[in-house]
Amino acid sequence: METKEYHKKFQERIDNGETIEPKDWMPERYRKQLIRMMSQHAHSEVVGMLPEGNWIERAPSLKRKKILLAKVQDEAGHGLYIYSAVETLGIARRELVEDYIYGNAKYSSIFNYPTLTYADICVIGWLVDGAAIVNQTMLARSSYGPYARAMIRICKEESFHQKQGYEMLAKMASGTPEQKKMAQDAVNRWWWPTLMMFGPPDDESPNNAELIKWGVKSKTNDELRQSFVDRTVMEAEAIGLELPDPDLNYNKETGHWEFGEIPWDEFWEVIRGNGPMNRERIRARRKAYEEGAWVREAAAEFARKQKLNQEKAS
Ligand code: 3HC
Repeated sequence: METKEYHKKFQERIDNGETIEPKDWMPERYRKQLIRMMSQHAHSEVVGMLPEGNWIERAPSLKRKKILLAKVQDEAGHGLYIYSAVETLGIARRELVEDYIYGNAKYSSIFNYPTLTYADICVIGWLVDGAAIVNQTMLARSSYGPYARAMIRICKEESFHQKQGYEMLAKMASGTPEQKKMAQDAVNRWWWPTLMMFGPPDDESPNNAELIKWGVKSKTNDELRQSFVDRTVMEAEAIGLELPDPDLNYNKETGHWEFGEIPWDEFWEVIRGNGPMNRERIRARRKAYEEGAWVREAAAEFARKQKLNQEKAS
C-alpha cells in the first residue's frame, strides 16, 4: 500500500538518518532503484575480474601474481556480497545475473577497456579502485542497511587494491625509461574512462536527485568526481607521472582542481554496448555462466533433497 502517509513517514525516517532494513516498509520505487543500482554494482565487480584476470598468468613475478590473484578473488567476493544484499529486496540472483548476461542491464563502463600491458593492472588498482573507494565510502552510509554494511568490508579491501596498484606504478615510474613510458601510456588511456565511472554530469543524471532524496547516495556524480580528481592529481605528481589533461588547473578560491571536458560521446557509446571490449566481456560471462550451469543444478538438487529429508524427519 503506497499511501501519502506511508511516504511521508518513510521520508521522515530518511531525513532522520535512519537505516532502512529489508522488512521495513519502503516505496516500490525505492526498492526498484536499489535493485537497479546495487545489481549493476555487483555485475561490475564480477565483470571487473576479466580485465585483470587476463594478466594473472603473465604477472612479472610470483609476488605480483599472488597480489593480483588475491585482488581478483576479492572482486569476486564483492560481487557475491552485493548480490546477497540485492536478494534481500526480494529478487532472485539468477534473474539479476541473466538480466545483464542476456539482457541489457548495465555494468561499469570502465571494464569495457582492454588491459594492453601490465602497467594497466597497476593503473586499474590506483585509479579505478581509487575511484571506487571515493564512491563506496559514501555508499557505506547509504540508507539501505544491507548495502551500507556490504560496503564496509568492501572498502577495506579496496584500500589494499588501491595501495598495491599505486606502489607497483611508482616502481614502474621510477624504473627503466621503457617501464616509465609503459606506465605513462597506461595512465593516458585510463584517466578519462576513470572519470566517467562516476556517471554523467549531474544535469544529465536522471537518477541522482531521487537517490539523494532517499539517502541511497549522499553526494552527486560531479561531487564524487571532483573529490577523486582533487586527491589524485597530487598522487600522480608524487610518482612523476602526468595526467593527460592540459586543462588541469588548481583554483585557489575553490580549493579544487579544475579539469578538461570529459569525452561524454565516448561514455554514452560505451554504455550503449559499443566500447572496445563490451562484446568480449559479455561473451566471456555467457560462456562461464553456461559452463557453470551443472554446478547450479547440482546445488539446487542437493538443496531439494535436503529439504525433502527435513520434511520427512519432521
Ligand atoms: N557505467 C555504466 N553505466 C553507467 C555509468 C557507468 N560508469 N554511469 C552511469 N551509468 C548509467 C546508469 O546506470 C543510468 O542508467 P540506468 O538508469 O539504465 O541504470 C544512466 O547511466 C544514467 O546515470 P545516472 O547518473 O542517472 O545513474 P546513477 O545515479 O545510478 O549513477 C553510478 C551511476 C555512479 C554508477 C551509480 O549507480 C553508483 O554509484 N553505483 C554504485 C557503485 C558502482 O556501481 N560502481 C561501479 C564500479 S565497480 C567497482 O568500482 C569495482 C572496483 O573493484 C573497481
